Amino acid sequence: MRTSDAPLVERMRGFGTTIFSEMTALAVQHDAVNLGQGFPDEDPPEPVLAAAHAAIDAGHHQYAPGPGIPQLRASIAEHQHRFHGLTYDPDGEVTVSFGATEAMAATILATCDRDDEVVVLEPTYDAYTAAIAMAGAVERRVPLTPPSEANPSGGWRLDPERLAATIGPRTRALVVNSPHNPTGTVLTDDELAAIAAVCRDHDLIAITDEVYEHLVYDGAHRPLATFPEMRDRTVTISSAGKTFSATGWKIGWACAPPPLTAAVRTTKQFLSFAGGTPLQHAVAHALTLPDDVYTELAVTHRERRDLVAAGLTHAGARVYGSAATYFLVADVSAWGYDDGEAFCRDAPARIGVAAVPVSAFVRDRPQVADLVRFAFCKRTPVLAEGVARLRGLSDHRR
Ligand SMILES: Cc1ncc(COP(=O)(O)O)c(C=O)c1O
Repeated sequence: MRTSDAPLVERMRGFGTTIFSEMTALAVQHDAVNLGQGFPDEDPPEPVLAAAHAAIDAGHHQYAPGPGIPQLRASIAEHQHRFHGLTYDPDGEVTVSFGATEAMAATILATCDRDDEVVVLEPTYDAYTAAIAMAGAVERRVPLTPPSEANPSGGWRLDPERLAATIGPRTRALVVNSPHNPTGTVLTDDELAAIAAVCRDHDLIAITDEVYEHLVYDGAHRPLATFPEMRDRTVTISSAGKTFSATGWKIGWACAPPPLTAAVRTTKQFLSFAGGTPLQHAVAHALTLPDDVYTELAVTHRERRDLVAAGLTHAGARVYGSAATYFLVADVSAWGYDDGEAFCRDAPARIGVAAVPVSAFVRDRPQVADLVRFAFCKRTPVLAEGVARLRGLSDHRR
């Protein structure tokens, strides 16, 4: 085969057009209410926006230092201390990235070699799978157990024995996403303690994705790095996108002890080097805002979650409780679909709503085939319209 016919390397095949892009295209085509993609349809809080304007007016337009501007690294370190009691040195232990996505890719590329194994929780956010593939490493999935019908709000739970069984001699790292996309599960202290024990016992690097750390509605989020002996083997990743309704800014970060930070910076400098200088200034300010800026966002999103959960329940779907994030999962079989993907392909044209099937996050798990993820990070009238359209489904089964 000529190079021009098959330019994509083998390990990246299968990452072509994602279901997310497909669903967004359908949403646009049918002018659907987009409950598919996880981005808000309103501006960041006013003081955050004002800080961005001020940074542009102040002339912050050139390259930032590779690890990020010092003010932002200091604010991130303060944030970790203020909310989680974790102490990091802004100079040697904090790295600013182009969103959490770049921090994740830089970390995996820096620490995982060809044929090393990387354990992830399933359902799995697709960027982990892609970064592992780019590193030439091997992904191993630990399936989370879905809630039972008797307790649909119980969250998707980690079975420590299943986790232990996934670890082998080539396991190098474990990626932990909590609060979890797409299920809205927040891992419990017991689950995190089990993960920490596995990391210590097998000398693994923990890589955490905590981008929804401030969007928790039930229970509490605790970073894995706060568990005994975990701080020094963990790369804690987060970003400003979800916390401040600024997903397009792509200002993220990684906090880790000096050797891991040095590793992450080595790869990160050749991915983007640095990005978004004025937005780095804005986020440096945003992170120092009082607690009520953070809590207001969580309160608003909790109300939105409740609105969508009630609407879906009223429309006949079985809703799985979501304790956090922008998302909740519902079973669409009551609407005559035993396949969430088929529902998501039909829904934009049929009722004017877009959503994402959970099958996009799993492999070979027919037992979750009828589940669909709905995003509730939209303005209330938009959600109300989406829910009203979904209600039409209970009257017109397929
Ligand atoms: C679990 C998870 N991690 C990372 C990201 C992306 O973060 P960022 O935009 O900061 O790269 C998302 C966005 O949807 C996400 O859901």
